[in-house]
Amino acid sequence: MEPTNHKVVITGASSGIGRATALLLDRLGHRVFAGVRKPSDGDALAAEASDRLTPVLLDVTDEDSIAAAVDTVSQTTSGGLFGLVNNAGLSLNGPLELLPASDIKTLMDVNVLGLLAVTKAFLPLLRRHRGRIINISSGHGLLAIPDKSAYAASKFAVQAISDSLRVELRPFGVSVSCVAVGKVDTEALGKIVADRERMIDNASPEVLELYRPLIEFFDREVKDLPGIQPIDVARVIERELHASRPRAHLEVGPGARKMKNLARLPVGLRDWLLAKALYSRRTA
Ligand SMILES: NC(=O)c1ccc[n+]([C@@H]2O[C@H](COP(=O)([O-])OP(=O)(O)OC[C@H]3O[C@@H](n4cnc5c(N)ncnc54)[C@H](OP(=O)(O)O)[C@@H]3O)[C@@H](O)[C@H]2O)c1
Repeated sequence: MEPTNHKVVITGASSGIGRATALLLDRLGHRVFAGVRKPSDGDALAAEASDRLTPVLLDVTDEDSIAAAVDTVSQTTSGGLFGLVNNAGLSLNGPLELLPASDIKTLMDVNVLGLLAVTKAFLPLLRRHRGRIINISSGHGLLAIPDKSAYAASKFAVQAISDSLRVELRPFGVSVSCVAVGKVDTEALGKIVADRERMIDNASPEVLELYRPLIEFFDREVKDLPGIQPIDVARVIERELHASRPRAHLEVGPGARKMKNLARLPVGLRDWLLAKALYSRRTA
């Protein structure tokens, strides 16, 4: 494929959706700057890509790392930046009473503050190109359900940031699209299971017992719900980067569309349906 000279930065490109997006855009001829935290992840990515792809060490919670990444990109992008894909993100599931405060803080640092800091830092380059920002949200950013209080808060924040910036940046021709993703079969799912085991190990047995129906429900969901593949999300991101009219909001995967539809219901009905699904086994 012919190089397009379209320069795109992707955060969290070591695995999952970010990695699939980096490799797809590279195959299509883009000049990809793939954000990774470990040099070995950058090497692994580069080994599968063309020499147009540049791994960039980028920890979204570290101001110095962000500034260094902007420097690297600036040196090779006289025309500005065509696209920024804010993909780096963590998951955190579980009843609030069982969630470690430090995990909640880390979640917000990565999913919210990191996304804001990276976007702010790349805006001068994006303005120069009248570029595009794609923020990766979740179905949990459309409807806040039990077990996801902290995660949903972080993804609702991503929706809010996207809505605010979409109009703020309109005078500069910079578009902002927010992609709400349903379940995707990525490394994130293994991390969710490991985090959950840690949470259960550290919980007091009495409190754990109170939340057992909730925990078991979502354990089954993680294991049993079919997920889409990272490449399916990558293709949507690629289409949106080139769409003649970038969309404000997109949903990818059946899980995200289900959340969007549920969110439209009157709150009383929605709560009743959720409680019925979650607790009917216990009361039956
Ligand atoms: N998988 C799903 O079902 C699902 C559903 C809805 C939304 N999403 C969203 O999709 C995005 C990608 O998730 P994924 O499923 O592809 O998960 P993943 O495979 O676990 O990838 C997450 C990426 O974020 C990176 N990351 C974590 N902390 C970072 C930090 N401080 N600075 C920079 N990068 C950091 C990870 O890097 P390391 O390898 O260095 O840790 C990794 O590259 C996330 O925003 C997630 O919330 C996923």
